[in-house]
Amino acid sequence: MSSNEESRFSFFSKKKTPVIDESNLKIPTHIAVIMDGNGRWAKKRMLPRSAGHRAGADNLKTLCKNCGHYGIKYVTVYAFSTENWSRPESEVHTLMELFVEYFDRYDPELEQEGIRVRFTGDIAGLPENIQAVCKRAEEGSKHRNRMTLIVAFNYGGRREIVQSCQKLAMQVKEGKIDASEITEEMFAQNLYLPDVPDPDLIIRPSGEERTSNFLVWEGAYSELWFSDVLWPDFGMKELTEALVAYTKRDRRFGGLSKEK
Ligand code: FPP
Repeated sequence: MSSNEESRFSFFSKKKTPVIDESNLKIPTHIAVIMDGNGRWAKKRMLPRSAGHRAGADNLKTLCKNCGHYGIKYVTVYAFSTENWSRPESEVHTLMELFVEYFDRYDPELEQEGIRVRFTGDIAGLPENIQAVCKRAEEGSKHRNRMTLIVAFNYGGRREIVQSCQKLAMQVKEGKIDASEITEEMFAQNLYLPDVPDPDLIIRPSGEERTSNFLVWEGAYSELWFSDVLWPDFGMKELTEALVAYTKRDRRFGGLSKEK
């Protein structure tokens, strides 16, 4: 990258938000975020973990607004993994309660922003009241088309892959397809949301650098971006930094870059 190009993405350290020429940013169609660090955020303030999750849920609204500003079409967030059931019962209860509360409380704002809500995960494995919340939020937001917010709840990438295999195995058993004819496309068609494009960029705040069973199949060629900021503090500055980094990436999908 030339020094001229670098200067277009320069940051003025005293300002909170990076000063950039937004017209030079490459905007991903789909970003996915692992909302990590709620517990540490609360601990730093000597608050209970539940306060961290509440702050994290509030920050999801900010993320949607900020992604809307950049014209990002799909935003997937990791809200509850298939492994999170192993947390203390009281914490699982808090997360379920927050989930139920969230879509009623923020629906007017989601409507105003034109945000459709969808869910990904083993939804059938959730308690009935949670399944009803998912159904209501999806049905009530179907008409919105500015952005789609996908909430991964009771989600595990490995479980999603296993469930896709089960659906295909059933089709083989019923004689509808031949096992030897199964392709990557057919496999992808049996994942939770086959019509959603793969994430271009996966962001993980909080200093951890792993993807923790998130979008295992869909994220095969996603760019990864990590930040030390804890999720409840992840704002416009961090999103913009992620987009600046994404703009500089050379996505080759196993091929060669255009200059070669
Ligand atoms: C990880 O932080 C976060 C979670 C397991 C839950 C994420 C959930 C929310 C942000 C709120 C609920 C979402 C909706 C849609 C209502 P952690 O608790 O592992 O943090 P730590 O690593 O600092 O302990």
